[in-house]
Amino acid sequence: MTQAPAPHQPSPSAPRQPLVAVYPGSFDPITNGHMDIIHRGASLFDTLYVAVAHNIDKRALFSVDERIDMIRECTAALPNVIPDTFSGLLIRYVADRGARVILRGVRAVSDFEFEFQMALMNRKLGREIETVFMMPAEQYSFLSSRLVKEVAGLGGRIDCFVPAIVIPRLLAALGSDR
Ligand code: PNS
Repeated sequence: MTQAPAPHQPSPSAPRQPLVAVYPGSFDPITNGHMDIIHRGASLFDTLYVAVAHNIDKRALFSVDERIDMIRECTAALPNVIPDTFSGLLIRYVADRGARVILRGVRAVSDFEFEFQMALMNRKLGREIETVFMMPAEQYSFLSSRLVKEVAGLGGRIDCFVPAIVIPRLLAALGSDR
């Protein structure tokens, strides 16, 4: 039986190209679950762009610049992580950055359908780009920016869900100073 050729097969003697990955998302705001994936990605890839999407369909609490600032502060100790932003097609941005990998976190089976659809669409649009999924630590498997905003808005504690620098900004953005 013949197998379909792999889309990218470097010759064994060729020097290894730096492996550049893009971790795209809304990051509204960045959570400890995102940070977990960023740490994992930064240890695997030579360069990791953490790219905030300009998503006109989604109403965000924070501006793109505010979200990038938070990511920058939270990743200051990771020299191969580059906070960035993109608009338009993700696959175009990935190619422009010379990246070969899209990194996404999957928390539970409920994430799978959307992620599967997105990965296959992105493969259709850019055959040479691979989507790589990583699982965050179990304690973050229920965590999402949306839930963190809801809990914070209702006065619940969020200190174990987001990096410390996010807490005052989130409370200020929600108009509460608890
Ligand atoms: O954190 P999110 O909201 O799950 O991130 C979703 C995101 C930003 C990765 C996705 O909406 C995206 O890739 N948007 C860019 C537009 C695009 O390329 N769409 C076609 C790919 S399916």
